[in-house]
Amino acid sequence: MSNKKDIIFKIKNLSKLYGANKIPAFEMMKNGSEKSDVARKYGVTVAVNDVSFEVERGKIFVLIGLSGSGKSTVVRCLNLLQKPTSGDILFEGKSILKLNKKELMEFRRYKISMVFQSFGLMSHRDVLGNVAYGLEVRGEKKEICQTKAMDMIEMVGLKGWEHKRISELSGGMRQRVGIARALANNPDVLLMDEPFSALDPLVRRDMQFELLSIQKKLNKTVIFITHDINEAFKLGDLVGIMKDGKIIQIDTPEGMASNPADEYVENFINSADKGQIYSVKHIMQTPSCLIHSRDGVNYALKQMRDQGVSSAYVVDDNLRLVGILPLDNAVKVKAGELSFQDAITKDVLTTEEDVYISDLLSVAATAKYPIAVIDKENHLKGIVSKASVLSSLV
Ligand SMILES: Nc1ncnc2c1ncn2[C@@H]1O[C@H](COP(=O)(O)OP(=O)(O)OP(=O)(O)O)[C@@H](O)[C@H]1O
Ligand SMILES: [Mg+2]
Repeated sequence: MSNKKDIIFKIKNLSKLYGANKIPAFEMMKNGSEKSDVARKYGVTVAVNDVSFEVERGKIFVLIGLSGSGKSTVVRCLNLLQKPTSGDILFEGKSILKLNKKELMEFRRYKISMVFQSFGLMSHRDVLGNVAYGLEVRGEKKEICQTKAMDMIEMVGLKGWEHKRISELSGGMRQRVGIARALANNPDVLLMDEPFSALDPLVRRDMQFELLSIQKKLNKTVIFITHDINEAFKLGDLVGIMKDGKIIQIDTPEGMASNPADEYVENFINSADKGQIYSVKHIMQTPSCLIHSRDGVNYALKQMRDQGVSSAYVVDDNLRLVGILPLDNAVKVKAGELSFQDAITKDVLTTEEDVYISDLLSVAATAKYPIAVIDKENHLKGIVSKASVLSSLV
């Protein structure tokens, strides 16, 4: 198969129970009992209940859910900090449950890194010492440790801070150190358990942006946990939503927003800022009136009349945006009061396909004409009207 997905992690029917009476509890759970009933009868906590999902290489997979829904337990099973009660976890097609001690150590040192919420940094070491730590443990030469660590420090924007002590850093900076440390090992997968939850909102937004750009640059696979739906939708290529140890729905942010599986998902979505889910490409339309610079004014007037619109988008032969021809200007051209070229307004508001709608709100509010959607080469891809921007948010 040619376009087969490159699946790096495959989680099959994963369950994790805590408590002494696991065997009867597991039976009860398999027969469909609720987590709360199993807890009452056997005193066993069903942390994860028959969870299956796949993670594609180079993508960001986000797990979201209320507190206690089992997110951290799932992620801790992925590097075997927790041992699953049942089910299997395949990394690059091989079960990690079958790794021997040495293989497991290699897996943790080379393939996968974890970033925690509570940064877990060593306060007696400086930034460089923290970032280089994993490489030192691996037995890399000192110069290599330093060079690789410095590269990562630069990558997360902390150049110049390498000799500062951890205690001298802000929360956001500490989290950057945590990310740099995880990246220094050059793992295939980053596991991130609510890494940004302790940060204030502005710093958090910075860090989300930072993570996205690092991920694009290094093409890492990221498994990211959050209980913030806006964060999930901003970061996730796919989002899995957990409730009582189960995954209720796995979908793209758009898919989930437009087709929530049940009320629980819907409640999460309702708390989301819709402008952060949809981007321009989801609401743009084809301009109903499109003319070439060489089309005459008569053609332009006819088009506007036929389409019932009061402006036309003008493009060149390569479909690059030239400007807008407003109806009143076209009428002046026809009356000989204005040249065709002068009639075309050049200061057209533009945007690009991947811009979030929330970032377009203030622009849309002042727009006289629909906003032109262009690519980097100024090709006209579509238009978004003020009405479509506003109505997509309700
Ligand atoms: N070591 C443990 N021993 C017993 N029960 C545990 C243990 N770890 C987690 N649990 C229970 O398992 C369930 C899932 O916990 P988990 O930490 O995975 O949830 P979570 O979704 O990460 O929650 P949060 O958003 O609060 O971090 C909870 O009911 C929790 O009390
Ligand atoms: Mg957790």
